[in-house]
Amino acid sequence: MSTATATAHPNIALVKYWGKRDERLILPHQSSLSVTLGPLSVTTQVAFEAASGPDLVRINGRSVEGRERTRVVELVGLVRAAVRARLRRRLGRATVVSSGDFPASAGLASSAAAFAALAVAARAAAGFPRHPREESILARQGSGSASRSIQGGFVRWNRGRRADGRDSFAEQVFDQGHWPELRLLVGLVSREEKEVNSRDGMRSTVETSPYYPAWARDAEAEVKVLVRHLARRDLEAVGALAERNAWRMHATALGAEPPLCYLKPQTLAVIEACRVARSRGVGVWFTLDAGPNPVLLTLARDEARAAALISRLGAASVVHCVPGGDAQVR
Ligand code: DP6
Repeated sequence: MSTATATAHPNIALVKYWGKRDERLILPHQSSLSVTLGPLSVTTQVAFEAASGPDLVRINGRSVEGRERTRVVELVGLVRAAVRARLRRRLGRATVVSSGDFPASAGLASSAAAFAALAVAARAAAGFPRHPREESILARQGSGSASRSIQGGFVRWNRGRRADGRDSFAEQVFDQGHWPELRLLVGLVSREEKEVNSRDGMRSTVETSPYYPAWARDAEAEVKVLVRHLARRDLEAVGALAERNAWRMHATALGAEPPLCYLKPQTLAVIEACRVARSRGVGVWFTLDAGPNPVLLTLARDEARAAALISRLGAASVVHCVPGGDAQVR
């Protein structure tokens, strides 16, 4: 039996990934850039036996079946195929046990951290040495945003141009220590399950939104601008760009048929409150994934006031994050 355990953090994109040019390999139409979020993490253990048989997958203490299991089993299958081709060895059935230290009710999806931890643990258990680029390419095939959770700090997923996806991986732009004052506050304003998940939502947007090509062009260009703002640790510029990019992602989704509206009244209340807070001298901006829960960007000096702003508007919980580190083998 060969076993390895890995831990990875989730991430929040400041320029979002929204739309695939290849559904199977998970290749995006545009590059994206995120901040890795500490201290939240997912820990995953992968154990390969010599004997063959069906893989076992346990997530947060329960055996999973169906689509959730298939996505994990397919990723493990990629590692098995690589071992056969490159190391000329055969791996038998796998047991995957994964758990996150943040509940779904934190308002953040755990799939990025989960597939990053799975990719790192599966490769390590199979006997491959650490290799962030290969880990990112593997994690990407579980969930696109997971490609950005292999490394810490500020991470850019380059869209790539090749049909086989070998040039579509994420790279660290600035490390975890680049901007220690930066704070990211995840506000849970709605517990409702979203009606359309990111995977289906982005597919529908690519296929039906007339604004999609403009979105992809704009986001690609914004990544380069964002790197310059991050280099200067300019929160006003980073915040304005993150808000603009989130609005544009939601705008292209709203242009889909049927329209995709992920915002709830409470989301808009928080967005409006950020604007008002800024006019009163509190440096706080928002970003928003494909769901109703905003993530606020602020600095340590304004953290308490920014958190109070979301709590006042009825957020059930506020999770305080800082730039997190690399995925690690335990
Ligand atoms: C809005 O990475 O969850 O959070 O590749 O289909 O698994 P799949 O999608 P996923 O989508 C993330 C979309 C987003 C933006 C982002 O994280 O960049």
